[in-house]
Order: sequence, then structure tokens, then C-alpha cells
Amino acid sequence: MAWTYCDRFLCVTHTATDVTTGVNVSQPNGGTFDIVILGAGSGGYAAALRAAELDLSVALIDKAELGGTCLHRGCIPTKALLHAAEVAEQTREAEQFGIKAELLSIDMAGVNAYKDGVVSRLYKGLTGLLTHNKNITVVAGEGKLVGKDTVEVAGRRYTGRNVILASGSYSRSLPGLEVDGKRVITSEHALRLDRVPSSAIVLGGGVIGVEFASVWKSFGAEVTILEALPRLVAAEDEEISKQLERSFRKRKINFKVGKPFEKVEYTDNGVRATIQGGETVEAEVLLVAVGRGPTTQGLGYEQQGITLDRGFVITNERLHTGVGNIYAVGDIVPGLQLAHRGFAQGIFVAEEIAGLRPAVIDEAGIPRVTYCDPEIASMGLTEAKAKEKYGADKVSTYNYNLGGNGKSQILKTTGFVKLVRLNDGPVLGVHMIGARMSEQVGEAQLIYNWEAFPEEVAQLVHAHPTQNEALGEAFLALAGKPLHAHS
Ligand code: NAI
Repeated sequence: MAWTYCDRFLCVTHTATDVTTGVNVSQPNGGTFDIVILGAGSGGYAAALRAAELDLSVALIDKAELGGTCLHRGCIPTKALLHAAEVAEQTREAEQFGIKAELLSIDMAGVNAYKDGVVSRLYKGLTGLLTHNKNITVVAGEGKLVGKDTVEVAGRRYTGRNVILASGSYSRSLPGLEVDGKRVITSEHALRLDRVPSSAIVLGGGVIGVEFASVWKSFGAEVTILEALPRLVAAEDEEISKQLERSFRKRKINFKVGKPFEKVEYTDNGVRATIQGGETVEAEVLLVAVGRGPTTQGLGYEQQGITLDRGFVITNERLHTGVGNIYAVGDIVPGLQLAHRGFAQGIFVAEEIAGLRPAVIDEAGIPRVTYCDPEIASMGLTEAKAKEKYGADKVSTYNYNLGGNGKSQILKTTGFVKLVRLNDGPVLGVHMIGARMSEQVGEAQLIYNWEAFPEEVAQLVHAHPTQNEALGEAFLALAGKPLHAHS
């Protein structure tokens, strides 16, 4: 069914129907807008929604589904898989809680139907939110920056008093490592697998690597992670890496750290990977999880004078590219490649364009969560970074073991909350590991971003019995008045 609506500048007839949701998206005939946004992922669509609230007219251009990587090929589907993995583990371990249950098998068709259902409900909601907004014109098609204020889509020109580049990222590979989508795969392929591989090599022990290793192990696969750096999740505090490695050893997830990957060969039934020193590992599939690169090639950015560094768009702290009225947000801007950073940057730029002079986003104030089992959640500086910045004698730390936390005992999880503080000063970092610790990151981010002193947090009452109490206990101890803490 075709339908029409008009914004301030032009009338639009919707004709194209998206096959997944049946929601109409528009392909209007170009025009002039307050903002033209290239890319409708987390950064782009957040900018569109905030700009529309501020009564700015927006053209939001995307060649694929609204919502981008996070909604369709990243955060949401992987966390659905991780939840299914948790259900599998709980079934397997039910007897520990006095419940008789048996894990018969993993029905990947059923798991995928659940995962796709979550994605499609959110997609439908988001598409409605964007297409029904009178200030937003959604343009379906591949855009290219053809002028300092113009993006062209299928020969039609969209001119913006401001332009926001939000073209996102793609799964990188290594030189000479060819992804065939069958035996050598990226996370996009892994999310669409119709079976549980009997065995998997995970190349890269970063965020994507440990999340998929965790899912596949819970689903019954033999998993080996290959990581070039000396530890898993090397961006985290060193003690978090050690605890994750202990937990993964207990879960019989294999990992080899400290030796870079050299090559992969096909075997009769799968692949054989070789790491530095000649050691080999064989498996049915190899997942390449060595980082994500910025999607900036062939989009006309450099031709318009925008500075790229290894493909990333260089901006100032207010996310301006230094060219015309062009801004950039999300994974194409160097820094944490996280959806919530994209949301924050999108909102920031919309407000900047509207003249609201928003506060600059502090990259260290962005919460980080890795949803493997056990979960990792962190804020601010690691102990090493804090000591590097302030000097070793100016920084203290405290580790509160979840062994003393009632709710964690009920869940039968292990782990800790680690605090890093400036002596006689505020909290510099909060690092947590254990089942469900992702949910604790909210308080941690308030503590860090409001530059709270441990003595101030220690005054706040934490509900009992919750895992949140572990944070409260850690702060009581750091403030010199430990409760359920062994020295
Ligand atoms: P990553 O940068 O987190 O990890 C890549 C890992 O691959 C690094 O540890 C690196 O040392 C290793 N590596 C690189 N070359 C190697 C080689 N030749 N041999 C062995 N190891 C090698 O990147 P990842 O995991 O691919 O994730 C991409 C982005 O997506 C990250 O920025 C991440 O933050 C984001 N993401 C965030 C999630 C979350 O917030 N929960 C979930 C998934 C992804």
C-alpha cells in the first residue's frame, strides 16, 4: 500500500515495502534539509530522533535496514544468543539447585526464531518511530557524499545545512585471511548459522571472541580461542582477564594467548589454524574476531577533504570534521565502538547543530560490558592506566569477592568487584566480573561520572540480598569500614 506524508519541504509517497517487517520506507525525490544523515545505525538514527525533537528537518539515508549493525548483526542478536546459552547452562546445571531437568539438544532453528523475533519486534518499533516522525524523511538507498553539503542517492541529491556521517563499521579480517562465509566466518555469518558447530576456533580474544566462545561452549561445541596479546579481553583490567581465564578454564573453553595467528588451511571437514611457533588447532569453523573497521571507503569522504586515519574519520572533540558543516558519529570515529557511544554522539551532534552547546562526551565515562559467562562490566580507568596517569603511590584499589555476597552465592557465581580510587580523591575505575554483573554498570557509571568519593558512596544503603550489594560492600571496605569482607 502506498501512503503519503508531507514535511516542511516536500511531500513523500512511500512505496517500497521492507520484506522483513512489511513497514514502508520512503524514497523521496531529494530536497533540502537542516540535517542530512548518512547511515541509520545507532549513531545516525539517534541524531535523527534528537534533531527531530528540536524541530530540525532530517533526511536519514541508509542502504540497508534501519537500526544498523547493533540491531541486526550485533548487540541485539548476539545477546539473544547469549541468553539462550544461559538457558542451556541452567538446564544442564539444574540439579545443583535440586531441579531435575535434562538438556536434550540445542534446536538452532528454534534459537534463531527466538533471536530473529526479538530483532524484528525492535526493528518494527524503530521503523515506526522514524517513519512516522514528521521531521524525518527516511531515504532507502546507497548514499555518497558528493559535495560538502550534499549526499547523492540513486541520482537524487539531498542537501543539508549540516551533514552527519554515521556509516558504521564492518568485520575486519587479516591480510591473506580470506573469509568464505562457510568455514572461515565473521560474526555476521556466526549469527546466521543453522547448526551448532561441533568445534570452533575463535580468532581474537576480544569482546566478540569471548562472547561467541561462551555461546558455542554452552551449546556444546569444543572451542579454542587464539589471541595474540598475552591475555583475553586485554583492554580490561588485568585482574579481570585473569578471572575470566580461570572461569573459561573451568568451563573447558580452550585458549592460547601471546602468540599471533599465522595461517589457516582447509582440511577434509574444516580448518586448521597455525599460530606463531608452528602449533596448530583444527576445528569445523574459524570465527574471525580481530576487530571492526570503519565503513568509509568509496563514500566520497576524502574527496570532500575529510581527514581519514586508517579509514577512521578524524574529528575534534565536538565531533566536527573540520570540513563545512560536516560531523561524524559512531564507529567511524576513533574510540570505543559501542552502540551507546553512538547514541550519545548522535544526540550530542543534533544538540550542537541546534545551538544547545552540549557538554563534550568523556570517553572514559562510557560504560563497557562484555556479555560472556561470566559477565564483565567496567567503568573508567584500569588500575594500570590509573597508576600511569596519577603515579602508583597516588592510587589505591580494593577487590570485593562475590563469595561474600548472598545473591551471588544463591546464583552460584564467582567473581569480584574491583575499585580503583585516587588516594583522598574520587573513584577512578570500577571493574566487575560474575554472572549478571552487566546490570551493576548503571550505578558504577553514576559513581564514576559524578566523581564520587568512596566515603560518599559508602553512605548509600544497598538493598539486601542483591548483587548490587557487592558494590556497596566494596565501597564500605574502601572507605575503611568493611562489613562482610575478609581481609
Ligand atoms: P576487539 O578489538 O575487542 O578484539 C580483537 C582481538 O583480536 C584483540 O584482542 C586482538 O589482540 C586480537 N587479534 C588481532 N589480530 C590478531 C592476530 N593476528 N592473532 C591473534 N589475535 C589477534 O574486537 P572484536 O572483538 O572483533 O570487537 C569489535 C568491536 O565491537 C569492539 O570495539 C567491541 O567493543 C565491539 N563489540 C562490543 C560488544 C559489547 O559491548 N558487548 C560486543 C561485540 C562487539
